Amino acid sequence: MSSTSSSRFDLGDHVQDQDLSEEYLSSSSRDYSAGSSPLTTPALSDEEFDFDVPEDALLEERSTTQAPADGSEKYIMVIGGLGYIGSHTTLELLREGHNVIVVDNLSNSYKTVLKNVKMLAAHHCKVNNVPMPRLRFFRVDYRSKAMHVLLERYSNLVMTVDATSGKQVVSCQSRIAGVIHFAAYKSVVESIKQPLRYYRNNVCGLVNLLQELERFNIRNFIFSSSATVYGSKANAGLPLKEEDLVHHQVKTQNEAGETTIVEPTIEGLSCPYARTKYFGEAILADVAEADPDWRIVALRYFNPVGCDPSGVLGESPRGEPTNLFPVLTQVLKGDRSNLNVFGSDWPTRDGTAIRDFIHVLDVARGHIAALNWNSKKGNGFSTFNLGSGTGTTVLEAVRSLEQAAGREIPLALVDRRPGDVGMCVASTERAAKELGWSTRESITKCAADLWNYVSKVALRS
Ligand code: UD1
Repeated sequence: MSSTSSSRFDLGDHVQDQDLSEEYLSSSSRDYSAGSSPLTTPALSDEEFDFDVPEDALLEERSTTQAPADGSEKYIMVIGGLGYIGSHTTLELLREGHNVIVVDNLSNSYKTVLKNVKMLAAHHCKVNNVPMPRLRFFRVDYRSKAMHVLLERYSNLVMTVDATSGKQVVSCQSRIAGVIHFAAYKSVVESIKQPLRYYRNNVCGLVNLLQELERFNIRNFIFSSSATVYGSKANAGLPLKEEDLVHHQVKTQNEAGETTIVEPTIEGLSCPYARTKYFGEAILADVAEADPDWRIVALRYFNPVGCDPSGVLGESPRGEPTNLFPVLTQVLKGDRSNLNVFGSDWPTRDGTAIRDFIHVLDVARGHIAALNWNSKKGNGFSTFNLGSGTGTTVLEAVRSLEQAAGREIPLALVDRRPGDVGMCVASTERAAKELGWSTRESITKCAADLWNYVSKVALRS
């Protein structure tokens, strides 16, 4: 099948945006004189995609670009780039001067988030007198065929000479320099009720995505993982180190030069959600082991909270929130009468569970540090904790928000939530040493920024 007919096939099935279709189809007649040649993608049969593509899947583009594209600029693709952590990361990437392609199907986010990200980035660029990077948005389910079309659009075929055989070979070169993958389901409770839905998106979706990226020679990948992969190892009461969970045997050396061999072990993964993150990491570790060209970083988030200090961007999940700060937000907004504190009999200073809360902008900056590190020093599969290293109890977290809001939050002490651990705090050494990254913000700042967002949302509505 020729590239044009293959493109028509994909576009006809999954893309309804007329402008983009036309632009895409006309690419078969573009000028390839600058060392590239027409892109011929393998014909894709329906069997290769065992995912449902929503009837109304739209491929949609929004651009803030002032300068015309010259076709050579590099992009970072952010999949799930309008969600809570995704939108803050997109914003930080733009502030740091990266061109960004956002892919999001809006299943747990809103289009207004794009406008707000764009506005904040433009403001930053204006104040700092720097050009606004390109921001492109595609409303696409990353598991749909439209994703193939999108990746193809940012690729060129390049003719090179093979060093060994001396023969000319054609290879695919992408303008996507790296991919950050946020698009996954993340509710523990929901994952217990709908495990197949979770495995299908978080695991099958990931496998499919990796195959697509390989086709286009994109092998710089950042994966959203979670401290949940440590399972019940968290209960040891010590800061969690990356080597507490490895997927292949590793040798570590302490400062005295003594070598320890760490074997892969898993303990007490509490729910399907946790297993999807574990499987995701394990798959990535195997992929990197098999093909050393892959550079993959899994970032294990602890408890991201807070929001951009502007109060314009925050966490606005669709559906019923279950995480602590979104629930607290509901109480502050009057949508809930009180916070149920799950467990007050943990062996901690006030009996409530201890978590490592980390400002979402610190998490976003952690992605940029990981991308930079991966481009320069990445090698196979690596894991880093994104946490502050400081433990805060649930009651202390509540107090910080009460202080920010200047009002009391009604509480009810109830039983422990199934699957919860008493303490979960990051060891921050590896990220500090390797990535040169550590958190800047405190829990007080997280609470102040969240309250700012909540009060501004209240004023707007
Ligand atoms: C949870 C997930 C974790 C996931 C993370 C994503 C569980 C068991 N773990 O982490 O796998 O990576 O979210 O953000 O759900 N709390 C209350 N009342 C509430 C809500 C929470 O007391 O209404 C307590 C919890 O019991 C816990 C602490 O607040 O002790 C933090 O809870 P949460 O925000 O849900 O995060 P994690 O449980 O740490």
